[in-house]
Amino acid sequence: MSDLNELLTARPHLQMHAMDGLVMEDVPLQGVVREVGTPCWVISAGAIRARYRALATAFAGMDMHIHYAVKANDHLAILRLLHGLGAGADVVSGGELHRAITAGISPRDIVFSGVGKTEAELRDAIGRAIAQINIESAEELEMVSAIAASMGRVAKIALRINPDVDPGTHAKITTGRAGNKFGIAYADALALYRRAAGLPGIQPVGLAVHIGSQILSMAPYLAAYARVAALIGGLREAGFAPERVDCGGGLGIPYRAEPAATPEALAGAIRQTLGGLGLSLIVEPGRWLVGPAGLLLTSVILVKQASPRRFVVLDAAMNDLIRPAMYDAWHEFVPLNAADALGEPIPTDIVGPVCETGDTFATNRTLPAPSAGAGLAILDCGAYGSVMSSNYNARPLAAQVLVAGHQWSVIRPRQTLSSLWEAEMVPEFLQT
Ligand code: LLP
Repeated sequence: MSDLNELLTARPHLQMHAMDGLVMEDVPLQGVVREVGTPCWVISAGAIRARYRALATAFAGMDMHIHYAVKANDHLAILRLLHGLGAGADVVSGGELHRAITAGISPRDIVFSGVGKTEAELRDAIGRAIAQINIESAEELEMVSAIAASMGRVAKIALRINPDVDPGTHAKITTGRAGNKFGIAYADALALYRRAAGLPGIQPVGLAVHIGSQILSMAPYLAAYARVAALIGGLREAGFAPERVDCGGGLGIPYRAEPAATPEALAGAIRQTLGGLGLSLIVEPGRWLVGPAGLLLTSVILVKQASPRRFVVLDAAMNDLIRPAMYDAWHEFVPLNAADALGEPIPTDIVGPVCETGDTFATNRTLPAPSAGAGLAILDCGAYGSVMSSNYNARPLAAQVLVAGHQWSVIRPRQTLSSLWEAEMVPEFLQT
């Protein structure tokens, strides 16, 4: 474990109290665990508010619209909170579109991205007159035109450009390189924009770009936005009037004290490349807004000595938080009880109980040895945590809790066991 003070200083919604243990805002988390049990997701409304305001402040003075990427954490309470702060939404499925609308976000503030939108999803989005559909291929452009024309509607679209830029992040979350499935090849963009302008049911409003996630350096952003700016110039020379650029998401967070990518740096990169072009701008941040605000609370089932290794077996698993298994992602651990932070740090493997070696949260992590029954918080789980959970190994989805000041509330109860199979049917031909 990194130095506890450093971890907590970087996450101001968390504090360690000698008596109360780990506290989120004003809520001692051991109290939450006593009532709700583990594993349990907790997320701080105050942290999300502070982060949203910091992002909005960084963009002050620009014609910038923040569309929260719903996929990062799609809980209705989180969507309602961000909507209340002024956020629109970036959605990638009909399900996310309906979640955003159910949370109160107007279709006029919703952008629809994604490489494979179905006809039913497009029909729904066009019927609701959402703000913009980001088109990912020539084939999709034709599909949207046909659907909108058949409905007597005009869909506002942006072409999502693949700028062929390496964002320097994990290969599985890189999206803006030639050869990725995403976006329209840079060289094809002008011709496709011309095609869009001539199609019925289509109003091209500009360009979109999203190069990947967990981006910690400004260089790839600068390169991608410079290419987009050049294309805007090309479109204008060709007589078109693009008015919007969707700058995508991807701003990374320091999971392990990496030098932080700041909203100010991102705003600077956007100003430098796209600032002087008289455009209306969009960003689609997900992780940066909610990631650091959330924790996964878990308890140690047992500590297994298997010399030379030492396995701390948690009651949380890869079905709850899949990021370490899927991306070798690093998450820090903090004890819930202050005394547990004081032990001698020793190398430990931290694993879940699922029957796969990949169900490993950390290998050879140096931390004070937790004992059976101890409570731990896995940090920075607010984004791509609960949303990526599954019922693998017939494990119910963990409870979710929202903290605000001294208040806290269960926002989703732990799934019951019987709900795992209540929709399943055993066909009659098996009932011999
Ligand atoms: N816009 C588009 C078109 C996207 O595909 C994404 C994320 C975002 C915005 C938001 O990106 P963010 O600001 O959150 O980086 N499950 C992975 C991350 C996948 C990101 C997918 N697309 C993880 O746990 O790291």
